[in-house]
Amino acid sequence: MQMKILVTGPRGFVGARIMDALDNAVPAPSLRNMDEDGVKRLVDETEPDCIVHTAAMSDIGTCERNPEASYRANVEIPLWLVRTGVRAILFSSDQVYSGCSGEGPYAEDEVAPANLYAREKLEMERRTLDANPDTVLLRATWMYDMPMYGVPNRGNFLMSMLRSAEVCYSSTEHRAVTYVREVANLIPKAVCLPGGVYNYGSESALTMMETALWLKDALSLPVIIRDAGPQHHLWMNCSKARAHGVRFHNTLDGLRQCIADYGLA
Ligand SMILES: NC(=O)c1ccc[n+]([C@@H]2O[C@H](COP(=O)([O-])OP(=O)(O)OC[C@H]3O[C@@H](n4cnc5c(N)ncnc54)[C@H](OP(=O)(O)O)[C@@H]3O)[C@@H](O)[C@H]2O)c1
Repeated sequence: MQMKILVTGPRGFVGARIMDALDNAVPAPSLRNMDEDGVKRLVDETEPDCIVHTAAMSDIGTCERNPEASYRANVEIPLWLVRTGVRAILFSSDQVYSGCSGEGPYAEDEVAPANLYAREKLEMERRTLDANPDTVLLRATWMYDMPMYGVPNRGNFLMSMLRSAEVCYSSTEHRAVTYVREVANLIPKAVCLPGGVYNYGSESALTMMETALWLKDALSLPVIIRDAGPQHHLWMNCSKARAHGVRFHNTLDGLRQCIADYGLA
């Protein structure tokens, strides 16, 4: 019998693609105004085998401006979900590496969050693992896709390259971007991971400027690419997840896949 997976944030950027990719997913209603009892009631009534939690306040600037709402969304709600006792797969972020002093690529144990969102994601990881060591935390990179019918659009690397006259990316910042369809398609494997924290996305040895220049060339885009100057690396070493069969394309192969899927070339 198939597992029943409760997906939070089912109309969000990642959640909508997960709903599209899985045929055993049940969409959760918005958790924004729920308290812990409401979350427990929802999970009790749905009786899922596991929860894939994508709902979050995911914009760094919005979090800084709304610290209370951000703490509730990014720390408390995930903790309430884990406390229901149902196994949870929770999205975290590569931002936990935003203040690392090493050159990278960063493995899971080398963390130094440099903004509120990142500090909250790290607190969420630690507290949910304390509450249930079987919890799986997925540290995602910046993700991209074309707009999806019926789903609110969200700015991303691909769309800004397609739509902007001019973009700024660093010629020194090593950072991968990941095709969100791949993130969604690998969820059945992520659900089977042993409890713990995993870097979950594409790897790349390129700088953001090199990736942007590659995409400009691949699609013959008119966009002008300027150097954003030195920025902190955010590249991840994803060998831990790979050892468990969670294999992503590297950034350029992910972009090639997306270009082919949408017939963009
Ligand atoms: N997008 C990226 O490139 C990226 C990169 C790294 C990590 N992540 C992480 O991946 C996960 C999914 O990201 P995403 O881009 O799909 O997020 P998103 O589209 O910004 O938001 C997902 C859903 O979160 C819910 N939400 C928004 N504000 C909320 C609040 N204050 N309280 C509770 N729920 C709230 C909304 O659902 P309702 O309207 O139903 O409430 C929204 O549809 C998040 O944990 C994010 O931090 C994303």
